[in-house]
Amino acid sequence: MTRSGAHLGALARLPVLAGLLAGAGCSSTSDLPPDVQTGAELYVSQSCALCHGADGRSAFWRPGPDLVPSLDAWTVDALAEYLADPAAWAARDPRLDDDGMPGFPQLSVDERERLARFVLSLGDAGGDA
Ligand code: HEC
Repeated sequence: MTRSGAHLGALARLPVLAGLLAGAGCSSTSDLPPDVQTGAELYVSQSCALCHGADGRSAFWRPGPDLVPSLDAWTVDALAEYLADPAAWAARDPRLDDDGMPGFPQLSVDERERLARFVLSLGDAGGDA
């Protein structure tokens, strides 16, 4: 029983750590409108940032392209549809080539629209787009 007591002590500290991490995440995006902020959280939790960079500007070693130069080509509705099935979209969009962008059909339309709003907001933040 002494061993399990020690484990419980360690577990009791976890919520504090989780709270700190959540707080840190919020403070960096708290100036965004609520739906854009949810989009920003999805952008990280759905791994978009891994391939496109946290600011959408990618980097030479990331598999995804810099998103900012092509933002003019998208609307919220179009991007939300693209995210559901990039391959189907790429088949009718000569600019895209169905090359490594995963689909996110498991997300709701609402979630994909929030993601789209966040992605489209990246151009504003970039300044030199
Ligand atoms: C495994 C890496 C990877 C992940 C994860 C990923 N992408 Fe992509 N994405 C790509 C690649 C590669 C392309 C280029 C596809 C093409 O040219 O047809 C792309 C293309 C795009 C485009 C179109 C860019 C253009 O030229 O118009 C957008 C927008 C986009 N991704 C947004 C997202 C969002 C939002 C997420 C998360 C929901 C995401 N991506 C997740 C790799 C990724």
